[in-house]
Amino acid sequence: MKISKKEILINSVKRVVELEKLSGVEEFCIAGRQVKKNTKKHKKKVSLEEYKNNISSCQKCPLGKTRISFVFGAGSPKAPLMFVGEAPGRDEDQQGEPFVGRAGQLLTKIIESIGLKREDVFIGNILKCRPPQNRNPLPTEISACTPYLLKQIDIIKPKVICSLGKFSAQTLLNSETPISRLRGKFYDYHGIKLMPTYHPAYLLRNQSGKKDVWEDMKAIAKELGLKLPQKK
Ligand code: URA
Repeated sequence: MKISKKEILINSVKRVVELEKLSGVEEFCIAGRQVKKNTKKHKKKVSLEEYKNNISSCQKCPLGKTRISFVFGAGSPKAPLMFVGEAPGRDEDQQGEPFVGRAGQLLTKIIESIGLKREDVFIGNILKCRPPQNRNPLPTEISACTPYLLKQIDIIKPKVICSLGKFSAQTLLNSETPISRLRGKFYDYHGIKLMPTYHPAYLLRNQSGKKDVWEDMKAIAKELGLKLPQKK
């Protein structure tokens, strides 16, 4: 079947509108005239589970072809704290869960250090699919995948986001500043407090970073009004 130029144009516009909506845009204007308004009253709230089902067969970038699993993220849909890593690795790709390898076990300990459990928080990544050989995410992959993360944040509405590692912090803050300088302070991310800290995989290689991560976690706990557990 031959597709007309008009249909191709309509489909491209639909795709752009869909992406904009995922990233929180509610109104669209053409030539200065408002043509669509999605008021709060009419906006259907999608649950995190529904959203997962809607997007988990994504093929927006080539990683859709090489992945085993679409790693949506895991945890509470009402989490006050959300962690954002870089991308699934081999273990995560195989199991379909974020942070399940060695770095994940360390992340669990970090979460527990402020008196929370993995199920209390939400753990996600910048990319939902594993880049081959764990290479760095490409800009095209990030722009295809970031609207999903924004929508997850919009559904969960965490009080604090903790970005893990250079890649997550630099992507979310649109910055090239090294993680050693970004970490340790809160930033505003779409109205939510964002604390960058070191990635647990980095801590496995550099024990000296643990002290800084502990400082960052204490600041997060304070922001969330959490009482720190007694040291055993
Ligand atoms: N590293 C990440 O950044 N994310 C994961 O899910 C696992 C390892």
